[in-house]
Amino acid sequence: MGIVVAIDGPSGSGKSTVAKRVAAALGLAYLDTGAMYRAAAWWCERTGIDLTADEVDAGAVTRAILTMPLDMGLDPTSPGVTCDGVDIAEVIRDPHIASVVSKVATNLDVRAELARLQREIIAGESRDAVGLHRSFSAGEGIVAEGRDITTVIAPDADVRLLVTASEEARLARRAGDLKAAGKSVDAAALRDQVVRRDRDDATVSQFLTAPEGVTLVDSSDMTLEETVEHVLGLIEA
Ligand code: CDP
Repeated sequence: MGIVVAIDGPSGSGKSTVAKRVAAALGLAYLDTGAMYRAAAWWCERTGIDLTADEVDAGAVTRAILTMPLDMGLDPTSPGVTCDGVDIAEVIRDPHIASVVSKVATNLDVRAELARLQREIIAGESRDAVGLHRSFSAGEGIVAEGRDITTVIAPDADVRLLVTASEEARLARRAGDLKAAGKSVDAAALRDQVVRRDRDDATVSQFLTAPEGVTLVDSSDMTLEETVEHVLGLIEA
């Protein structure tokens, strides 16, 4: 199944950009597991579930995800996300999705189903049942990124990295991303997206130290290029 590189990190750590660049440089497939959680939130709303409600119907969420017609593109130069025939790559980056995604990501049934799909993709197995198809072969190997890839999804990965950055650097990067996309930058909204979401995900504590066997890459004082070079060096070592 080729080399498996697992990368975790918090919001704005740069893990997605680094993972894509590294996969492209090595000719590997790329899996954005965060996009799968975002797609799950989009699909729930599409099927009529109110994710803004105080008490979200967990059973309805689980049922929706078990029939989610998701199609993840694994090409690191254009990683598409299609659900029910709709190209949702852009819409899942919407601040609204960011504000509700934790509601589905904390549902353990959702995590179990997405974990199953993620392990299948990483293993390069074909899937013929309803659901997920791959538009880029994972045969040569894959770079998979998210929040639990090094620990839960692929603890046996050949290379396991935790990409972090200080809160200040992460906020600045997210602001830069938004500006580059021509979107307005509201400091409070940004803090909400980056800091509050990490807290809601209850994943912050796991990013303070790297678990055994996971290499910490603190990118606070590195440029994107420097981080990519550093990670390529770690993979080749
Ligand atoms: O914006 P950011 O890069 O932080 O988020 P993302 O990677 O697109 O992930 C979006 C959301 O999906 C996170 O806030 C988590 O709620 C969830 N997620 C998760 O629970 N487990 C993963 N392996 C990846 C993402």
